[in-house]
Amino acid sequence: MRVFLIAVALLTSTTAIAAEEEVHAPNQDWSFEGPFGVFDRASLQRGYQVYREVCAACHSMDYMYFRMLGQEGGPFHDEDYPNPNDNPVIKALSAEFQIEDGPDDLGDMFMRPGQTSDRFPAPYPNDNAARAANGGAHPPDLSVIVKARGGGADYLDALLTGYEEAPEGEEPPRAGLYYNEYFAGHWIAMPPQLTEGRVTYEDGTEATPEQMAEDVTTFLAWASEPHMETRKRMGFGVIIFLIILSGLTFLAYKEVWRDVEH
Ligand code: HEC
Repeated sequence: MRVFLIAVALLTSTTAIAAEEEVHAPNQDWSFEGPFGVFDRASLQRGYQVYREVCAACHSMDYMYFRMLGQEGGPFHDEDYPNPNDNPVIKALSAEFQIEDGPDDLGDMFMRPGQTSDRFPAPYPNDNAARAANGGAHPPDLSVIVKARGGGADYLDALLTGYEEAPEGEEPPRAGLYYNEYFAGHWIAMPPQLTEGRVTYEDGTEATPEQMAEDVTTFLAWASEPHMETRKRMGFGVIIFLIILSGLTFLAYKEVWRDVEH
Protein backbone atom coordinates (compact mmCIF):
# COMPACT_ATOMS: atom_id res chain seq x y z
CA MET A 1 0.00 0.00 0.00
CA ARG A 2 2.79 2.38 0.93
CA VAL A 3 4.58 1.65 -2.35
CA PHE A 4 1.35 2.33 -4.21
CA LEU A 5 0.89 5.67 -2.44
CA ILE A 6 4.46 6.70 -3.18
CA ALA A 7 3.98 5.77 -6.84
CA VAL A 8 0.80 7.86 -7.03
CA ALA A 9 2.53 10.79 -5.32
CA LEU A 10 5.49 10.56 -7.69
CA LEU A 11 3.27 10.34 -10.75
CA THR A 12 1.12 13.31 -9.81
CA SER A 13 4.13 15.43 -8.92
CA THR A 14 5.94 14.70 -12.20
CA THR A 15 2.83 15.44 -14.27
CA ALA A 16 2.45 18.67 -12.30
CA ILE A 17 6.03 19.63 -13.18
CA ALA A 18 5.48 18.68 -16.83
CA ALA A 19 2.30 20.76 -16.97
CA GLU A 20 4.10 23.72 -15.48
CA GLU A 21 6.99 23.45 -17.95
CA GLU A 22 4.91 23.12 -21.07
CA VAL A 23 3.30 26.32 -22.30
CA HIS A 24 1.31 25.66 -25.44
CA ALA A 25 1.77 28.14 -28.25
CA PRO A 26 -1.49 29.82 -29.24
CA ASN A 27 -3.13 28.29 -32.29
CA GLN A 28 -2.85 30.64 -35.29
CA ASP A 29 -4.52 30.72 -38.69
CA TRP A 30 -1.88 30.05 -41.32
CA SER A 31 -2.51 30.49 -45.05
CA PHE A 32 -0.86 27.12 -45.67
CA GLU A 33 -3.04 25.04 -43.34
CA GLY A 34 -5.88 22.77 -44.40
CA PRO A 35 -6.35 20.66 -47.53
CA PHE A 36 -6.43 23.70 -49.86
CA GLY A 37 -3.96 25.91 -47.97
CA VAL A 38 -1.21 27.58 -50.01
CA PHE A 39 1.74 29.69 -48.93
CA ASP A 40 1.23 33.46 -49.02
CA ARG A 41 3.79 34.43 -51.68
CA ALA A 42 4.50 37.96 -50.39
CA SER A 43 4.96 36.63 -46.84
CA LEU A 44 7.38 33.96 -48.14
CA GLN A 45 9.48 36.62 -49.83
CA ARG A 46 9.55 38.80 -46.70
CA GLY A 47 10.36 35.72 -44.62
CA TYR A 48 13.34 34.93 -46.82
CA GLN A 49 14.55 38.50 -46.26
CA VAL A 50 14.25 38.05 -42.45
CA TYR A 51 16.14 34.74 -42.60
CA ARG A 52 18.90 36.20 -44.74
CA GLU A 53 19.33 39.45 -42.81
CA VAL A 54 18.78 38.14 -39.26
CA CYS A 55 18.75 34.37 -38.69
CA ALA A 56 21.46 33.43 -41.23
CA ALA A 57 24.06 35.10 -38.97
CA CYS A 58 23.78 32.09 -36.62
CA HIS A 59 21.61 29.40 -38.25
CA SER A 60 22.46 27.25 -41.26
CA MET A 61 19.88 25.81 -43.69
CA ASP A 62 21.90 22.94 -45.11
CA TYR A 63 19.13 21.37 -47.18
CA MET A 64 18.34 24.55 -49.11
CA TYR A 65 19.75 25.41 -52.53
CA PHE A 66 19.21 28.85 -54.04
CA ARG A 67 17.41 27.38 -57.07
CA MET A 68 14.71 26.03 -54.74
CA LEU A 69 13.61 29.64 -54.11
CA GLY A 70 12.51 29.78 -57.75
CA GLN A 71 10.96 26.36 -58.17
CA GLU A 72 7.20 25.86 -58.44
CA GLY A 73 5.64 26.81 -55.09
CA GLY A 74 8.80 28.68 -54.01
CA PRO A 75 8.92 32.32 -52.83
CA PHE A 76 10.30 33.72 -56.10
CA HIS A 77 8.75 31.32 -58.62
CA ASP A 78 8.09 32.96 -61.97
CA GLU A 79 5.99 31.21 -64.64
CA ASP A 80 8.26 32.66 -67.32
CA TYR A 81 11.17 30.70 -65.92
CA PRO A 82 10.12 27.09 -65.41
CA ASN A 83 13.81 26.35 -64.84
CA PRO A 84 14.79 28.46 -61.80
CA ASN A 85 18.45 28.40 -62.88
CA ASP A 86 17.46 30.82 -65.69
CA ASN A 87 15.51 33.16 -63.41
CA PRO A 88 17.40 36.50 -63.09
CA VAL A 89 15.93 37.11 -59.60
CA ILE A 90 17.33 33.79 -58.35
CA LYS A 91 20.68 34.47 -60.03
CA ALA A 92 20.88 37.86 -58.31
CA LEU A 93 19.87 36.41 -54.90
CA SER A 94 22.59 33.75 -55.16
CA ALA A 95 25.25 36.23 -56.25
CA GLU A 96 24.72 38.25 -53.04
CA PHE A 97 26.66 35.53 -51.20
CA GLN A 98 30.35 34.66 -51.37
CA ILE A 99 30.87 30.90 -51.57
CA GLU A 100 34.10 29.02 -50.95
CA ASP A 101 35.13 26.93 -53.95
CA GLY A 102 38.22 25.12 -55.12
CA PRO A 103 40.84 23.94 -54.97
CA ASP A 104 42.22 25.92 -57.93
CA ASP A 105 45.24 24.89 -60.05
CA LEU A 106 47.60 25.83 -57.23
CA GLY A 107 45.60 23.85 -54.66
CA ASP A 108 44.15 26.89 -52.93
CA MET A 109 40.51 27.43 -51.97
CA PHE A 110 38.99 30.67 -53.24
CA MET A 111 35.81 32.71 -52.86
CA ARG A 112 33.39 33.39 -55.72
CA PRO A 113 29.86 34.83 -56.00
CA GLY A 114 27.10 32.27 -55.35
CA GLN A 115 25.30 30.46 -58.18
CA THR A 116 21.75 29.11 -58.34
CA SER A 117 23.10 25.55 -57.89
CA ASP A 118 24.81 26.39 -54.56
CA ARG A 119 23.55 25.50 -51.10
CA PHE A 120 22.80 28.27 -48.62
CA PRO A 121 26.22 28.92 -47.03
CA ALA A 122 26.54 28.06 -43.32
CA PRO A 123 27.53 30.84 -40.89
CA TYR A 124 30.10 28.71 -39.05
CA PRO A 125 32.69 26.23 -40.40
CA ASN A 126 31.64 23.53 -37.89
CA ASP A 127 29.47 22.84 -34.81
CA ASN A 128 32.23 23.66 -32.32
CA ALA A 129 32.75 27.09 -33.85
CA ALA A 130 28.96 27.63 -33.68
CA ARG A 131 28.91 26.65 -29.99
CA ALA A 132 31.95 28.75 -29.14
CA ALA A 133 30.29 31.82 -30.67
CA ASN A 134 26.96 31.24 -28.86
CA GLY A 135 27.92 30.71 -25.24
CA GLY A 136 28.07 26.93 -25.61
CA ALA A 137 24.64 26.47 -27.27
CA HIS A 138 24.29 25.18 -30.79
CA PRO A 139 21.93 27.12 -33.09
CA PRO A 140 20.08 24.26 -34.84
CA ASP A 141 19.86 24.00 -38.63
CA LEU A 142 16.58 25.59 -39.71
CA SER A 143 15.91 23.57 -42.90
CA VAL A 144 13.21 21.40 -41.34
CA ILE A 145 12.76 23.08 -37.96
CA VAL A 146 9.00 23.57 -38.42
CA LYS A 147 8.57 19.80 -38.76
CA ALA A 148 11.12 19.06 -36.05
CA ARG A 149 9.36 20.82 -33.18
CA GLY A 150 6.02 19.93 -31.59
CA GLY A 151 3.61 22.79 -32.30
CA GLY A 152 5.32 23.49 -35.65
CA ALA A 153 4.61 26.95 -37.05
CA ASP A 154 2.61 28.02 -33.98
CA TYR A 155 5.56 27.18 -31.72
CA LEU A 156 8.14 28.95 -33.87
CA ASP A 157 6.06 32.10 -34.13
CA ALA A 158 5.39 32.14 -30.38
CA LEU A 159 9.06 31.45 -29.55
CA LEU A 160 10.32 34.36 -31.64
CA THR A 161 8.01 36.82 -29.90
CA GLY A 162 7.92 35.04 -26.51
CA TYR A 163 10.76 36.86 -24.70
CA GLU A 164 9.79 38.50 -21.44
CA GLU A 165 11.06 39.53 -18.03
CA ALA A 166 11.76 36.47 -15.90
CA PRO A 167 9.14 36.06 -13.15
CA GLU A 168 10.19 37.15 -9.66
CA GLY A 169 12.67 34.71 -8.12
CA GLU A 170 13.51 32.81 -11.35
CA GLU A 171 17.25 32.77 -11.90
CA PRO A 172 19.03 31.68 -15.09
CA PRO A 173 21.03 28.44 -14.59
CA ARG A 174 24.03 30.23 -16.14
CA ALA A 175 24.87 33.64 -17.58
CA GLY A 176 23.96 34.57 -21.15
CA LEU A 177 20.49 33.02 -21.16
CA TYR A 178 17.21 34.80 -21.90
CA TYR A 179 13.77 34.09 -20.48
CA ASN A 180 11.29 32.88 -23.08
CA GLU A 181 7.76 31.84 -22.24
CA TYR A 182 7.60 29.10 -24.87
CA PHE A 183 11.07 27.53 -24.79
CA ALA A 184 11.22 24.22 -22.88
CA GLY A 185 12.78 25.11 -19.52
CA HIS A 186 12.32 28.81 -20.42
CA TRP A 187 16.02 29.79 -20.49
CA ILE A 188 17.26 30.03 -24.08
CA ALA A 189 20.73 30.95 -25.37
CA MET A 190 19.31 32.79 -28.39
CA PRO A 191 19.04 36.53 -27.68
CA PRO A 192 15.76 38.21 -28.74
CA GLN A 193 16.07 38.92 -32.47
CA LEU A 194 12.95 40.51 -33.85
CA THR A 195 13.01 44.03 -32.48
CA GLU A 196 10.86 46.73 -34.09
CA GLY A 197 12.20 47.63 -37.56
CA ARG A 198 15.02 45.06 -37.47
CA VAL A 199 14.65 44.73 -41.26
CA THR A 200 13.35 47.20 -43.80
CA TYR A 201 10.94 45.30 -46.00
CA GLU A 202 11.49 45.74 -49.71
CA ASP A 203 7.71 45.73 -50.31
CA GLY A 204 7.07 48.52 -47.77
CA THR A 205 5.27 46.34 -45.17
CA GLU A 206 5.80 47.64 -41.64
CA ALA A 207 8.38 45.44 -39.89
CA THR A 208 6.75 44.88 -36.48
CA PRO A 209 8.10 41.96 -34.42
CA GLU A 210 4.80 40.08 -35.00
CA GLN A 211 4.95 40.65 -38.75
CA MET A 212 8.59 39.49 -39.00
CA ALA A 213 7.86 36.41 -36.86
CA GLU A 214 4.87 35.50 -39.05
CA ASP A 215 6.85 35.98 -42.27
CA VAL A 216 9.95 34.06 -41.24
CA THR A 217 7.73 31.27 -39.87
CA THR A 218 5.90 31.06 -43.21
CA PHE A 219 9.25 30.90 -45.01
CA LEU A 220 10.58 28.18 -42.71
CA ALA A 221 7.32 26.21 -43.00
CA TRP A 222 7.75 26.27 -46.78
CA ALA A 223 11.41 25.21 -46.45
CA SER A 224 10.32 22.25 -44.30
CA GLU A 225 8.01 21.09 -47.09
CA PRO A 226 8.78 22.83 -50.40
CA HIS A 227 6.47 20.56 -52.41
CA MET A 228 3.41 20.94 -50.15
CA GLU A 229 1.29 22.73 -52.77
CA THR A 230 2.01 20.10 -55.45
CA ARG A 231 1.25 17.35 -52.96
CA LYS A 232 -2.11 18.87 -52.02
CA ARG A 233 -3.07 19.47 -55.65
CA MET A 234 -2.18 15.89 -56.50
CA GLY A 235 -4.15 14.57 -53.52
CA PHE A 236 -7.21 16.53 -54.66
CA GLY A 237 -6.82 15.17 -58.22
CA VAL A 238 -6.60 11.62 -56.89
CA ILE A 239 -9.81 12.04 -54.86
CA ILE A 240 -11.71 13.39 -57.91
CA PHE A 241 -10.35 10.52 -60.00
CA LEU A 242 -11.45 7.97 -57.40
CA ILE A 243 -14.96 9.47 -57.24
CA ILE A 244 -15.33 9.30 -61.05
CA LEU A 245 -13.87 5.79 -61.08
CA SER A 246 -16.35 4.63 -58.41
CA GLY A 247 -19.22 6.07 -60.48
CA LEU A 248 -18.05 4.30 -63.64
CA THR A 249 -17.53 1.03 -61.81
CA PHE A 250 -21.05 1.22 -60.42
CA LEU A 251 -22.54 1.92 -63.87
CA ALA A 252 -20.52 -0.95 -65.37
CA TYR A 253 -21.80 -3.24 -62.64
CA LYS A 254 -25.40 -2.20 -63.39
CA GLU A 255 -24.86 -2.79 -67.10
CA VAL A 256 -23.27 -6.21 -66.70
CA TRP A 257 -25.97 -7.51 -64.32
CA ARG A 258 -28.91 -5.80 -66.06
CA ASP A 259 -30.62 -8.95 -67.43
CA VAL A 260 -29.43 -11.35 -64.78
CA GLU A 261 -31.64 -12.46 -61.89
CA HIS A 262 -29.71 -11.88 -58.62
C1 HEC B 1 22.96 35.56 -32.43
C2 HEC B 1 22.72 34.25 -32.95
C3 HEC B 1 21.30 33.88 -33.32
C4 HEC B 1 20.46 34.51 -34.21
C5 HEC B 1 20.73 35.77 -35.02
C6 HEC B 1 19.26 33.70 -34.27
N1 HEC B 1 19.38 32.63 -33.45
FE1 HEC B 1 18.02 31.14 -33.19
N2 HEC B 1 19.21 30.23 -31.85
C7 HEC B 1 20.46 30.67 -31.47
C8 HEC B 1 21.01 29.77 -30.47
C9 HEC B 1 22.37 29.90 -29.79
C10 HEC B 1 20.04 28.76 -30.25
C11 HEC B 1 20.10 27.58 -29.28
C12 HEC B 1 19.35 27.98 -28.04
C13 HEC B 1 19.45 27.01 -26.90
O1 HEC B 1 19.61 25.80 -27.13
O2 HEC B 1 19.36 27.49 -25.74
C14 HEC B 1 18.93 29.09 -31.14
C15 HEC B 1 17.78 28.34 -31.22
C16 HEC B 1 16.77 28.55 -32.15
C17 HEC B 1 15.63 27.68 -32.36
C18 HEC B 1 15.38 26.36 -31.66
C19 HEC B 1 14.51 26.47 -30.44
C20 HEC B 1 14.19 25.11 -29.88
O3 HEC B 1 13.02 24.81 -29.69
O4 HEC B 1 15.13 24.33 -29.67
C21 HEC B 1 14.88 28.23 -33.35
C22 HEC B 1 13.59 27.68 -33.93
C23 HEC B 1 15.53 29.46 -33.75
N3 HEC B 1 16.67 29.62 -33.00
C24 HEC B 1 15.05 30.29 -34.73
C25 HEC B 1 15.67 31.47 -35.11
C26 HEC B 1 15.13 32.37 -36.12
C27 HEC B 1 13.86 32.12 -36.93
C28 HEC B 1 15.99 33.41 -36.21
C29 HEC B 1 15.84 34.63 -37.08
C30 HEC B 1 14.68 35.43 -36.85
C31 HEC B 1 17.07 33.17 -35.25
N4 HEC B 1 16.83 31.99 -34.60
C32 HEC B 1 18.17 34.01 -35.07
C33 HEC B 1 21.13 31.78 -31.94
C34 HEC B 1 20.61 32.69 -32.84
